[in-house]
Amino acid sequence: MSRPYRITALVGSTSTQSRTQVLVDAIVKALATQVAVDVKLVELSKLGTRFGAAVLKDQLDAPALSALDQIEQADLVIAASPVYKGSYTGLFKHVIDFVGIDTLVDTPVILAATGGGDRHALVVEHQLRPLFGFFRAHTIPTAVYASEAELAGYEVSSLALQERINEAAAQAAQVLRQTGSTDALLKRAA
Ligand SMILES: Cc1cc2nc3c(=O)[nH]c(=O)nc-3n(C[C@H](O)[C@H](O)[C@H](O)COP(=O)(O)O)c2cc1C
Repeated sequence: MSRPYRITALVGSTSTQSRTQVLVDAIVKALATQVAVDVKLVELSKLGTRFGAAVLKDQLDAPALSALDQIEQADLVIAASPVYKGSYTGLFKHVIDFVGIDTLVDTPVILAATGGGDRHALVVEHQLRPLFGFFRAHTIPTAVYASEAELAGYEVSSLALQERINEAAAQAAQVLRQTGSTDALLKRAA
């Protein structure tokens, strides 16, 4: 049976109006032109305090556990964070620390980040990629970083950014199509 791919986007911003969310929406839109998707958002602007109040997994409440499950069961994860002090945010990492060590093996992960300027563009390569390397996830080669100038008016305002988004989405769709009959299907059956 053919089902849409389960996509979970972890959006690390704590702001209700978020450039990182805009970037994630654009990535999802590009992905949806290539494959059928069923998208869940884990937005830390809504769930952050639920995770922040817990230091052990058994202290997480039902909405936080459900969000965690959506990350662990996804066919593809979009991991997106604003840059804070040269890295992903502390709360983003706090959520990731609850993710089961074996749950993302071979799972495709699109890496994305937004920052004030271009200076910290390599945060996607030097911070996010090794984090998901720890999980033995399949990080998509093209990671997407966007500066505030590229998201002017809270929309994708740069052709170069849109091209990076399209490239990452095309690579991710290819991985999903290739692995869709094996790992992803096993996860989807779970
Ligand atoms: C506490 C804090 C620290 C930040 N540190 C950096 C930084 O080190 N480098 C950078 O480029 N931008 C930095 N920024 C800017 C944010 O990364 C940028 O505005 C981002 O797009 C915000 O995403 P959001 O709208 O999704 O919350 C920082 C912002 C805050 C609030």
